[in-house]
Amino acid sequence: MTSITEIIQKRYSCRSYSGDPIEASVLQSFREIVSAPQKGPFGNSPRFVLISMDTVSRDDWKKLGTYGVIKNAHWYLAGMISPAPMATQDYGYCKEKLILKAAGMGLNTCWLGGTFAISAFGRAAGMHRNELLPTISPVGYAARRRSLTERVMRGIAGSDHRRPWSALFFNGSIPTPLTPEEAGAYREALENVRLAPSASNKQPWRIVYEPGRNTFLFYLSRAFGYRHTRDVSLQEIDIGIAMCHFELTVKESGLAGNWRQEDSAPPIKSWEYMASWQAGS
Ligand SMILES: Cc1cc2nc3c(=O)[nH]c(=O)nc-3n(C[C@H](O)[C@H](O)[C@H](O)COP(=O)(O)O)c2cc1C
Repeated sequence: MTSITEIIQKRYSCRSYSGDPIEASVLQSFREIVSAPQKGPFGNSPRFVLISMDTVSRDDWKKLGTYGVIKNAHWYLAGMISPAPMATQDYGYCKEKLILKAAGMGLNTCWLGGTFAISAFGRAAGMHRNELLPTISPVGYAARRRSLTERVMRGIAGSDHRRPWSALFFNGSIPTPLTPEEAGAYREALENVRLAPSASNKQPWRIVYEPGRNTFLFYLSRAFGYRHTRDVSLQEIDIGIAMCHFELTVKESGLAGNWRQEDSAPPIKSWEYMASWQAGS
């Protein structure tokens, strides 16, 4: 079986698809996974739908708004949430689980929070009145060559670069960095957070490890001028994605622990506390 680390390393944002149909058995299994009920660590339940472009009217096709960015995808994964506290983080967590399942099945995807038209996708996804549709993702097999647009997009977002450990992970307090050696059994989980996708590759996750109580505190460092798109904060989605990578890796390593929100988490200037992973309980 492929390890979660291998899957995380394999995943990348694919914007050019081959157009080949998804193998029937793979499509069937993925459909079942997508339609199973989901629940995030904060208790919210986002809803996911797999949309075939065959079910979208010709008029709507033109309005999907992915034109120029996504080439040749015939399936889209749409995810909806009802607004609630931490619903956006839960959304990121649950949707990334599906994205990684897809990667494990040999399917390519790409998170899209900006470059799509909400009305046409909302109609195709059967969006309810009280729901938001923060992102969609094409699903399919990658084309043999990346399009020029794709190469330009990757260049603009600096997609092949990730911040170093010293900018993301801290030991006890900031600015003391947490080294991979000090992270010990959690090294792989933190490295897998570092490899996570994030909106415009901003990598807004910061983690402070408190060795005394074996706890990892997750903070959001919001990028300036990057607030909300369509009523949701894409960077809160990024936090959920990071939590997903961390938890899946920790669990696969056989380490126990769980998420909690602490009232007494130490405030850190310009960062927002999100949640803590309490190891070993
Ligand atoms: C919440 C979210 C929203 C995103 N929105 C877009 C988008 O609108 N258009 C796009 O081309 N890529 C989008 N991306 C993809 C990121 O640019 C990409 O994850 C990042 O550059 C890192 O590259 P990688 O995913 O190939 O590792 C989004 C990613 C996330 C997590």
